[in-house]
Order: sequence, then C-alpha cells, then structure tokens
Amino acid sequence: MENDSKQQIIKPEHIVIVMDGNGRWAKKRFMPRTAGHKAGVKSTRKIVETCVENKIEALTLFAFSSENWKRPDQEVSSLMELFLTTLQSEVKKLHEQSVCIRFIGDCTAFSDKLQKSIKQAEDLTVNNTGMNLNIAVNYGGRWDIATACRAIAEKVQASEIKTSDIDAELINQYVTLSDLPDPDLFIRTGGEQRISNFLIWQLAYTELYFTDVLWPDFDENEFDKALGWFVNRQRRFGKTGDQVEQANKVN
Ligand code: FPP
Repeated sequence: MENDSKQQIIKPEHIVIVMDGNGRWAKKRFMPRTAGHKAGVKSTRKIVETCVENKIEALTLFAFSSENWKRPDQEVSSLMELFLTTLQSEVKKLHEQSVCIRFIGDCTAFSDKLQKSIKQAEDLTVNNTGMNLNIAVNYGGRWDIATACRAIAEKVQASEIKTSDIDAELINQYVTLSDLPDPDLFIRTGGEQRISNFLIWQLAYTELYFTDVLWPDFDENEFDKALGWFVNRQRRFGKTGDQVEQANKVN
C-alpha cells in the first residue's frame, strides 16, 4: 500500500495500461477489427520494450476483460489466437531481458493450449528480477475483490483469522499484485475516460492519464508525454498541497 515516501518518486514504479482503440484504428482504415488488434500487438511490444529500457519496475496491461467475452465469437477467437502466437513469439526475448511474466485473471476459461502456454511463460520467467510484466486476461476488478473476500472468509471459517482482523491492509494482501507497489500511473488510450473494472482496489491513489490516441498509434513519443504529465502531478495521498510542499523541502 502507499506510504508517504511515494510522493518523492518522479518516475512511476508501476504503470498500468488500458490498451483501447484497436477496433476504431482498423475501422478508420476500412480493415477488420482483428487487423486493429494485430497492430495493437506491435504497439504493446514497443511499449514493453520502452518500459524495460526505462527500468520501470512493473507494467500491467489489460489485454482481455471478463466482459470482453460478450464480443462477437469470431473476434474473441481471433484475440485468443493472437495471445497464443504473441506469447510463443515473445516469451524467449522477454526472458533474455529478465522480464518476469505473470497473468492475472481467471485463466481457467481459456483453451488447454493457451493455459499451457501461459503456465510455461510464467514458469520460465518466475525467477527473473527485471521488470514485472503482468498481463490481465479474463480479469475484472470486482472478481479480484470477490476472490479475495472468499479467501478471507475461508480463513475466518477455519478460525485462522478473526473478523476484527479484517481491514484494508489485510484485504490488500489477498488481491492480485499485492507483492508489487500500487500503480502510480494509469494510462488509457482511445479517448474513453473510465476505469472499466480494471484493478479497482489497487487504483485508489493512482494518477489517471487519458489520451485520445488509439492504442496502435501509441508510440514511445506518446509514452514520454504520459511520463511528462505524471512528473508534474502532485501526489498528496490525502494531505494538503502545502503539507506535501513542506515535506518535499525537508527531504
Ligand atoms: C481494446 O480495443 C483492446 C482489446 C480488447 C484487446 C487488447 C489486446 C491487445 C492490444 C493485444 C495484446 C497482446 C498481448 C499478448 C498482451 P477495442 O477493440 O475495444 O477498440 P475499440 O474501442 O476501438 O473498438
């Protein structure tokens, strides 16, 4: 969870991205939506690379939400195929860069083949000490919190913890990514200004950056703009602006 020392940090330690706008990017070019997702993969590759170069501690990408199953069958299956081929083509290089890959979300809904690839990628990179790359698939923030509540309730039932022990700190230990710093910077491309059930617990104090740029057009230059915006944010964590300025002068 956040602490006061965080306000001194200029570079975000943990960035999360909602990669939106692939469909519209394709539509503008009279191409099928799947072509937009393919172009989106290229952007994803570039931004992951940029984050590795910038020594960002953690990058979390929203690749497929629990609500995305509502899309046409053909789009869902082509996205699954894309995840599989991307994993197969990228994991080796990411491993060489010491990236630790983790998937968050309910992966049991995926094909055996995709689940196997996911597990292989996680197993291969589990001890890597470079950037943490978290890929949210079939993920929903409410699912995350509900899963945490269920696990805590089971502990209470087994008399391992008391109901009076339940507080924000404890819940924080049960939601996904609890071993990482809370996200500092949230980026959403594609012009929509909403969180869409992404990491809703973890984003409590995150700075939210929205851009109209469509994900396939989000390049290193756009990423730098987001970082530039972030460094000018005053992170107060409930304090007043004066208090923060005073603390910064002392440190
Ligand atoms: C949202 O754009 C994008 C998605 C639902 C898919 C995002 C996935 C990728 C970019 C591939 C990443 C791959 C890996 C392996 C991490 P949209 O289709 O909702 O766009 P629209 O709002 O313009 O229709």
